[in-house]
Amino acid sequence: MRIVMLGAPGAGKGTQAKKLIEDYGIPQISTGDILRQNIAQGTPLGKEAKGFMDRGELVPDKVVLGLVEDRLKQPDCKQGFILDGFPRNTAQAETLDKMLAGIGMPLKLAISVDVPFEDLMKRLTGRRTCRSCGQMYNVYFTPPKKEGVCDKDGGELFQRDDDKEETIKKRLQVYESQTAPLIDYYSKKGLVRKIDGTGTIPGIYGKIKTELEKIK
Ligand code: AP5
Ligand code: MG
Repeated sequence: MRIVMLGAPGAGKGTQAKKLIEDYGIPQISTGDILRQNIAQGTPLGKEAKGFMDRGELVPDKVVLGLVEDRLKQPDCKQGFILDGFPRNTAQAETLDKMLAGIGMPLKLAISVDVPFEDLMKRLTGRRTCRSCGQMYNVYFTPPKKEGVCDKDGGELFQRDDDKEETIKKRLQVYESQTAPLIDYYSKKGLVRKIDGTGTIPGIYGKIKTELEKIK
């Protein structure tokens, strides 16, 4: 299974991708997560990306495309993959198509998770993530049992640097202007399945799974 998760910041791409990993045993490739790891490790790539991310802008294509190309060559991608947060503009989508055609592994589906604009701010300002296992919480909707502590492994919960109101507004603008057109791009190829991203996390997952079962 080779799929792309489309959706605005806060739509739940990462949350749903993590459930898919557990079920299907294929890796999630989140360019945002890879970039944040590079920042945490202080790599040159992380240093280059940080300013763009803190401003809510896209990191330059050449940086991100190199990351994805390397990741797709890893052996665990042979069985499939879930792209989360990539591609982010038409140039990235076109390059991805060429990369995948080159290795004979075209995309099967683009899942577009649709959440009304007014819900996204609360999802993003309320998000907390475990520093050790990556489990996500939301202080408004899915809080941990103990504030600041992960239910799964007791790890420390942190708030992302770009989850500040001003940066979120910029990220949502960038999404509308640069990423939302990809829904059209993949629709023309017959790959898009639109999923209502409101409701419970398991409920949304059920709808995604129904679509995935159809292509098996
Ligand atoms: P990235 O990390 O990709 O962030 P994003 O696209 O802004 O998306 P998010 O991760 O914020 O949202 P999500 O849809 O994953 O939602 P989540 O599941 O966490 O990118 C960050 C930055 O990196 C970019 O701004 C850019 O600078 C750079 N970058 C990354 N990729 C790039 C690329 N390809 N090219 C260039 N630059 C790139 O859920 C959000 C919250 O909602 C959580 O708290 C969760 O618990 C909660 N939630 C989820 N589902 C529900 C539900 N059903 N009900 C209630 N709450 C829910
Ligand atoms: Mg995410």
